[in-house]
Amino acid sequence: MLDLTKMRSTLAGQYDLAPSMRLAEDMADTHAKMARVMPLADFARYAPYIRAINALKREKNAVILAHNYMTPDIYHGVADVVGDSLQLAIEATKVEAEIIVQGGVHFMAETSKILNPAKTVLIPDMQAGCSLAESITADGIAEMRAKYPGAPVVSYVNTTAEVKAASDICCTSSNAAQIVAAQDSDVVIMTPDQYLAQNVAREVPQKKVVWWEGSCIVHEQYTKDDINAFREMNPDTRIIAHPECPPDVVDASDFSGSTSGIIDYVTREKPSKAMLVTECSMASNISDALPEVEFTGPCNMCPYMKKITLEKILWSLHTETQAVEVDPQIAAKAKIAVERMIELSRALAK
Ligand code: 13P
Ligand code: SF4
Repeated sequence: MLDLTKMRSTLAGQYDLAPSMRLAEDMADTHAKMARVMPLADFARYAPYIRAINALKREKNAVILAHNYMTPDIYHGVADVVGDSLQLAIEATKVEAEIIVQGGVHFMAETSKILNPAKTVLIPDMQAGCSLAESITADGIAEMRAKYPGAPVVSYVNTTAEVKAASDICCTSSNAAQIVAAQDSDVVIMTPDQYLAQNVAREVPQKKVVWWEGSCIVHEQYTKDDINAFREMNPDTRIIAHPECPPDVVDASDFSGSTSGIIDYVTREKPSKAMLVTECSMASNISDALPEVEFTGPCNMCPYMKKITLEKILWSLHTETQAVEVDPQIAAKAKIAVERMIELSRALAK
């Protein structure tokens, strides 16, 4: 567990982290990427951290891979690469820098380590978990295999290395339907997200998809009634849902896709009003690039993603102590499942 008091006093002794309007004004280009969602006075609190982290990245030869659910100060201020789970996994294979700092949750850092084991992979808060990753162990995979003998196991990347190692292939929300369709079996086991599996099952009717009963605490909260009530009051708002939402929520929406799929859709369609049925930072991160779109409606916060802050990123880079390790035997097996996904995704995209 991080000792926040020690962290803060050590950082204050090493870096000039006092809020600074002058620095915020000097960093106007960075602020412009989040000005719609963050007044300059608030940015003045983040600017010293952004400056310190970017200097430390150069000094230590580090890169930051950040998921689309990171807050705008991280996403626009310090990230070198941003993306959805698939894009971040692919980027992790290409990193040449010595250190990867994962702006995201623990399973993402494990995936980076599995794919690029020679690098030091830092996760700014070890407690940044995921309700899906916590819902299943390798025993759960064995249970499913016993129940459906011979059926391949397609595991969402939102799983531990141990679960990936026990699976045949991984998937993300952007390639799940294609990966399931490509399996050489009538029955396909999907773990651990029951809702992603149910959404995929409708897209791939030629397969019998069976699933583990896990769910994402962010997306399971949305209901069809919420969406329909919102639409009745806001008929001109485009409603866009992540496929971790229950199928009736996806049905009540206008579009469903991975986080990058959502960004691409809104960028292409530019609806005058949009409600993103997903994690709150998504709309904040793309708001300034899309001034013609008004982002409206409720969103849900991921408490795990929100454990990652600029302060903790600075601390992990300063101390290099939050390194993710994966047992080499488990990592080797997990790598096969992740690489199969990346290769199949590439082949299917051609
Ligand atoms: P994607 O970015 O792959 O859509 O995943 C969403 C998510 O919930 C990650 O934890
Ligand atoms: Fe896990 Fe859901 Fe948070 Fe993504 S948003 S990290 S799936 S709990």
